[in-house]
This record gives sequence, C-alpha cells and structure tokens, in this order.
Amino acid sequence: MNSLFIVFHVILLASSVHLTNASYEYFKLALVWPTTFTRIHAPGRMMTNLPQHFTIHGLWPTNFSLPWPENCAQIEKKHHFDQTLMTATLQGVLNRDWPSLQPGKSNMEFWTDQWEKHGSCSAERFAQSKYFEEAVSITRKLDIDGELKKVGIIPHRTKTYSRIAIVNAIKKTNTRQFEPELLCFNDKGNVLLREIRMCFDADLDEIIPCPINKSAGVNLCKTKSNSIIIPV
Ligand SMILES: *[C@@H]1O[C@H](CO)[C@@H](O)[C@H](O)[C@H]1NC(C)=O
Ligand SMILES: *[C@@H]1O[C@H](CO)[C@@H](O)[C@H](O)[C@H]1NC(C)=O
Repeated sequence: MNSLFIVFHVILLASSVHLTNASYEYFKLALVWPTTFTRIHAPGRMMTNLPQHFTIHGLWPTNFSLPWPENCAQIEKKHHFDQTLMTATLQGVLNRDWPSLQPGKSNMEFWTDQWEKHGSCSAERFAQSKYFEEAVSITRKLDIDGELKKVGIIPHRTKTYSRIAIVNAIKKTNTRQFEPELLCFNDKGNVLLREIRMCFDADLDEIIPCPINKSAGVNLCKTKSNSIIIPV
C-alpha cells in the first residue's frame, strides 16, 4: 500500500515536471489604448464607437532572452486555431475586451492571428479557450482603467499627465508594486499613451517585473514632463 502510494506520487511528480517544462518562460500582457492605435494605423480616419477603455493587444509567451517562441502551431499541428471552440459567450466577452482595432480585420481574424503566433506556444499549459479566458480574467483583475480613474487620470482630448503618475497608479494593481512598461506614440508633437504592458509568471498566477528590453526603447514613454495624453 505504502510503496504503491509512493510510486503513484513519483508518477505524478514526473508528469508535473514534464508539464512545467514548457517552451516559454513568462507571459507579457499588452493592453492597447484604442484611440492611439487608430491614430497610428488609420490616421485621419474618424472611427466611431471606439472602446474608451484599454483592450487586449495580446498575451505573449515570452523568454527572458531572445528568441521568443512564436508560431508554434506550425510545428505542433494539433495546436492550430479552432474556431469551433470560440463559443458565443466567449466571443461576447472578447468582442468587448479583445477587439480587432485594425480596419478591415475582423475580431475572429485577429484572435486567429494572436493564437497562431503567440497563444499556440503556451498551449501545453493553456488550451485555446482557457488562454482567451485567462487573458480577459487577468486584464479585468488588473483593472487599469479603474486604477487610473481613482487618481483622476481620465482620458481627454488635450489633458496631459506625467509618466510617473500613470506608472504609480498602475503599480497599485499588484502588491509588490511592479511597474508596467508604457509605450507612447509621438503624434505630430503630441505624446499619446499607446500601450501598457505587464508581465506574469508562466502559470499566470502572479505579476512579475518585466525584464528591461533596451531595444524596445524607441516606443517607451520617456518624457519626464507632464505631457502624456490619453486621447478620447
Ligand atoms: C524559451 O525558453 C524555454 C525554456 O528555457 C526553452 O525550452 C525554449 O527552447 C526557448 N524558446 C526559444 C524559441 O528559444
Ligand atoms: C525587445 O524589443 C524589441 C522591439 O520591440 C523586440 O523586437 C524584441 O523581441 C524584444 N526582446 C525581448 C527579449 O523581449
């Protein structure tokens, strides 16, 4: 009885070791500010009904050093995007929290791209439906819109905020006060907030500090003055 029990545990241990030996090391969650995205990708176009909250750009399985895993379904065919798994309920949630902002690209096409390029690389740990659900769940838990609002950082056509004020508000989303990465876009002299990125451990259990990436520098908000706009 006792030895059987031990054997059973050894098998359990072995399989959990196998499961945690995934092909990525952590996750990066990228949240986009829709108005800024539209200014970049469809300049001059008037977009109606753009969400006035951060939406998900992607949840990317990533490695601490390059390269990151990408396009894993190309190798592991069983991990190709399966549209039949996108239930009406899930689609309803994603239409709000993870819409395609690219003119001419449907939401389903956007989800397909994101899954094929990124999500399929964490499919051993998060199967397709779970991956999309988890992305929404961690985003809602962060509640970046709520944290910004609490300190009076409100999207506005011209109002400006400092990088440090935005960072400090978002640090409150996690007990250890890890900072987000902020990406900006320089729109003819106006600095627009473009993306907020936070990193999570490989199981999506906790926030970890995002490793500093010097080559991402071009898009990072560097301004020290009160000059960042979150445009409506
Ligand atoms: C990412 O890291 C994991 C774990 O260290 C490794 O097994 C994998 O090969 C790496 N992926 C790439 C694309 O190098
Ligand atoms: C660093 O940032 C660049 C530019 O955004 C990106 O292409 C590259 O994959 C990133 N590297 C890592 C290790 O995150």
